Amino acid sequence: MVISMKEAVVQIKDMSFKYGNETVLRDINLQIKQGDFFGLIGPNGSGKSTLLKTILGLLPIQKGEVFLFGKPLHQFRDWDKIGYVSQKANAFNTGFPATVFEVVSMGLFGKKGLFRRLNKQDKQKVREAIKIVGLSDYEKRNIGKLSGGQQQRTFIARALVSDPKLLILDEPTVGIDADSTKQFYQLLSKLNREMGITIVLVSHDIAVITKQVNKIACLNKGLHFHGSPAEFDQSREVLQKTYGVEMGLITHHHHMEES
Ligand SMILES: Nc1ncnc2c1ncn2[C@@H]1O[C@H](COP(=O)(O)OP(=O)(O)OP(=O)(O)O)[C@@H](O)[C@H]1O
Ligand SMILES: [Mg+2]
Repeated sequence: MVISMKEAVVQIKDMSFKYGNETVLRDINLQIKQGDFFGLIGPNGSGKSTLLKTILGLLPIQKGEVFLFGKPLHQFRDWDKIGYVSQKANAFNTGFPATVFEVVSMGLFGKKGLFRRLNKQDKQKVREAIKIVGLSDYEKRNIGKLSGGQQQRTFIARALVSDPKLLILDEPTVGIDADSTKQFYQLLSKLNREMGITIVLVSHDIAVITKQVNKIACLNKGLHFHGSPAEFDQSREVLQKTYGVEMGLITHHHHMEES
């Protein structure tokens, strides 16, 4: 498969990663192209969060290469182009005494430096990001006094405020009710289609993911599947192999534990 590097927002070549002696990712080859809505699935402990962290340069890989926007990871500097909401975003920040507005402004610190003051234009951007996620009425509310779903949307707004070209979300809908989850996917779909943002989404909600995304990768240390939702539907046994259980059991599987 030959595709020019320019189109690839993320390119991973023969990459492996170990925690100590434990191989967590083995010989990963993966390409995420501009405009993709990319769903990453796999059982607990299969290395999904680890894969995202290697893409973000947060964990050093032992073998292979990662390219971001065509550049080798170690040369990549445009971190503004990437918005990331970690699996632990909620757990980390809820005790932190800050308002929605303040948390979202933190998304600009990469550009502004931690102690720079926000100018009028920055504040406008913060308000826009808050509006996109539907939290304008909560701007001055302390994030500790929001519901889990509202907190999650605050972290999405923080990731959006620097106009990222790539948005990486690690299980953003865990603990969020069905209605809010639906709205949340509509929001993502809008960001992807109307604003052209490339999205990488980790989720256990396979039923939803196959409806929303245009590419799916199925991870269990190695990649077991990489293709479109239609192809994915035709090869569900791949998924069974990955999970080692029946589909029906995992489609509605939610887990609250943090890893
Ligand atoms: N900091 C760490 N040190 C050592 N091992 C780790 C560390 N973090 C994760 N692991 C191990 O690496 C493997 C992959 O973990 P990872 O968090 O990437 O899985 P995941 O697919 O995101 O799972 P989940 O669906 O539960 O979020 C697991 O076996 C886990 O125990
Ligand atoms: Mg994870």
